[in-house]
Amino acid sequence: MAEQTYNFIDLFSGCGGMSLGFERAGFSNLIAIDNWKDALVTYAYNRPGANTLCADLLTLKPSDVEDRIGGKNVDVIIGGPPCQGFSVAGKRIVDDERNQLYKSFVAMVEHFKPKAFVMENVPNILSIGGGIIRNAIFSDFEQLGYTINCKVLLASDYGVPQNRRRAVFVGLRDKQYTFPDKTVNNPVTSWDALSDLTEDTTIEGGAYSNAPLSDYQRLIREGSVGVFNHNITIHREQTKHIIAMVPDGGNYKNLPKELWQLRKVHIAWTRLNSKKPSFTIDCGHNHHFHYKYNRVPTVRESARLQSFPDKFIFVGGKGSQLRQVGNAVPPFMAEQIALNLKTYI
Ligand SMILES: C[S@@+](CC[C@H](N)C(=O)[O-])C[C@H]1O[C@@H](n2cnc3c(N)ncnc32)[C@H](O)[C@@H]1O
Repeated sequence: MAEQTYNFIDLFSGCGGMSLGFERAGFSNLIAIDNWKDALVTYAYNRPGANTLCADLLTLKPSDVEDRIGGKNVDVIIGGPPCQGFSVAGKRIVDDERNQLYKSFVAMVEHFKPKAFVMENVPNILSIGGGIIRNAIFSDFEQLGYTINCKVLLASDYGVPQNRRRAVFVGLRDKQYTFPDKTVNNPVTSWDALSDLTEDTTIEGGAYSNAPLSDYQRLIREGSVGVFNHNITIHREQTKHIIAMVPDGGNYKNLPKELWQLRKVHIAWTRLNSKKPSFTIDCGHNHHFHYKYNRVPTVRESARLQSFPDKFIFVGGKGSQLRQVGNAVPPFMAEQIALNLKTYI
């Protein structure tokens, strides 16, 4: 018997990291909505025929979305309203415009009444204001008839070479969701993820310079016809000279003290540790460097650390590509949530 397939809507989709996890688990996307054109171009480039909508979710009405998907029933709504979407004054949630982005997610759930929803956000959403945001989220969705569970998940528990933490809320109509157990005992390291990529730029679609050196590389290369988005950043000589003093896994503390103040933030001059998963990658601030090379990771290397397969190609300027990658939910982590969710719906 053919396996039942489920559809989903992705709100605040970005380039579609979370979508990709759901697709890998066999879900199909009805529409991806974001107000960032570049990210949607990447979304569509990797999914010919995808239904994307560039729109402001502050003002977009659920009925407009319903029209765009031809009135179909929606099984699951996924998405991550932007992290800065909540502000708190004392014990009160400030009802400002940013908070409305989250409200638009609630309004879509209220309208479409999906079997389930999955909403992700920054971990401290659970603790700010002594948990009032968390409680407000639970109460908003409980009023719509959902049973909610939430947990901070660590991406490296699911085969992502990165210690990224995200708070995930899952709501179901009639049952309590339990989050997936970790799928790996030995985390994938930065070396596992990156060691087959070259120090220098590879021309778009150029051949791999060697065979995969780890199981992760074998997996991440599946279906790829070459190396894309591996265009290195050329740093100033002084930057190269300074980062050369920081060893694999080191940071500014490995530098002479007089250099500590050179960059204002403490995360500056940090190198990946080849023997560990990466720290949370940023959106292209040039503070985190390769574990071996005297340069920041390329878009492809960042994508590998986020578990985007090599066949997923990023479009737009390099800064935009790095932001698309850095904003995403790691696809391998989303895939485990989605696979597990299937057993409930
Ligand atoms: C954390 S990112 C989402 C990443 C995405 N879930 C993924 O896995 O790739 C948040 C997204 O919200 C989008 N966004 C912010 N404000 C918005 C608005 N008013 N309307 C629509 N999208 C918005 C941003 O452009 C960004 O792509």
